[in-house]
Amino acid sequence: MKKLSNGRLSAEADSFTDHFHSSISFDSRMYREDITGSIAHARMLGRQGIIPEKDSELIIKTLNEILEDIEAGKVEFDVKAEDIHMNVETILTQRIGNVGKKLHTGRSRNDQVALDIRMYLKNCITDIKGLMFRLLKTINSIAKENTHTIMPGFTHLQNAQPVTLAHHMLAYFEMFSRDYDRLSDCFKRTDIMPLGSGALAATTYNLDRQAVCDELGFAEITKNSMDGVSDRDFVCELLFCLSLIMMHLSRFCEELVLWSSQQFRFIEISDAYATGSSIMPQKKNPDMAELIRGKTGRVYGELMALLTTLKGLPLAYNKDMQEDKEGVFDAVDTVKMCLPVFTGMIAAMKINKENMLASAGLGFMNATDAADWLVSKGVPFRDAHAAAGRLVMRCIERNVRLEELPIEVFRQECPVFTEEIYKAIDLGECVKRRTVPGGPSVICTEKLIADNERLLEGGRFL
Ligand code: ARG
Repeated sequence: MKKLSNGRLSAEADSFTDHFHSSISFDSRMYREDITGSIAHARMLGRQGIIPEKDSELIIKTLNEILEDIEAGKVEFDVKAEDIHMNVETILTQRIGNVGKKLHTGRSRNDQVALDIRMYLKNCITDIKGLMFRLLKTINSIAKENTHTIMPGFTHLQNAQPVTLAHHMLAYFEMFSRDYDRLSDCFKRTDIMPLGSGALAATTYNLDRQAVCDELGFAEITKNSMDGVSDRDFVCELLFCLSLIMMHLSRFCEELVLWSSQQFRFIEISDAYATGSSIMPQKKNPDMAELIRGKTGRVYGELMALLTTLKGLPLAYNKDMQEDKEGVFDAVDTVKMCLPVFTGMIAAMKINKENMLASAGLGFMNATDAADWLVSKGVPFRDAHAAAGRLVMRCIERNVRLEELPIEVFRQECPVFTEEIYKAIDLGECVKRRTVPGGPSVICTEKLIADNERLLEGGRFL
């Protein structure tokens, strides 16, 4: 492939330099956006009389053919043509000669690449939102099956107060629905059309930017040409959104790793999402969960890398900005792989309700409820808290649970206790009475699950 003419430089770059600065190995994935953007640009140039209408038509027709040929695997890109923009233009010029050379009128690769990456990432955001929707649906349906599944709620990974698996799941529903909304918000700032910014100072041609914006389905056009070519905030923002998604997935994965261990046995990961060991015949390892947890680091890394790349750049375009792509592509690919694996893994996991309940019986998780019962009888909370604490001490001495202490022992620590206390500290009762909005009671979680179902079905997440 012969290089497009460049009058300023006399010496050809050596092949080492070509490989160093070429981005075709990774930006070729934007071929469709590049060609679609060029078609809109060419149509506008023709309509505005900037190039002859018939040239514009020939360019559009040939670009469509190139697109088909790329999709059919008939085109080989060349590192000497540097990037996707120059590759497409070079092929165009090879096919239609001088007419092809008119495409780049009133345009720079700086606004072209800004357009392509915005178009590409808009599609990525939409795809990821689709995957998030499926995850939210799965979480809500697991919650629906488990509104009565009592399990320990933890602080410091110590048994704290009883909750239900539904309540635990619904916590993640909230996190992922915020992640979803953040993607929608990021989409708005990505959905702005930069073509017409030129290299940095727009152009002297009478471009119709709004027509290009409309044809490409953007919400609006950028308002400042220097910002149009040098802004990569939206890429950072997407990387941050993806980092938070990974962080939430990773926390959940950490719990699945713990929960599937012999110490917890709350869940069993389906064989489809586990692996064996090459040496230990008995092993079933939660590799997929660990791998998602592990991949979180690379997504964070890409956010930090881009923020660092951008921090010292004077306006407007600098070649450093070519470094935006590999990281965000990798982060998008990573999240697009992790989300369906994770969703499938939780949909297929087996929940050991009895083990969850048995574990909830450990650690005196009903001690707060014993104190609360005293409060309901007029004992000040601090005194009630101390009495319940002493009762826990008595349990530890005797190696029994709170509900196994005879009533006399309760009354020794606080004479207000009556037989009613046993009902009040039953685990099911402890959960049932937490009816404050946002609480784990069946009433609260059933309502939330129904609300979520309405949102999921009513298009809130589409
Ligand atoms: N491949 C380049 C990038 O990704 C395209 C823009 C090149 N512009 C330039 N002035 N060298 O940023």
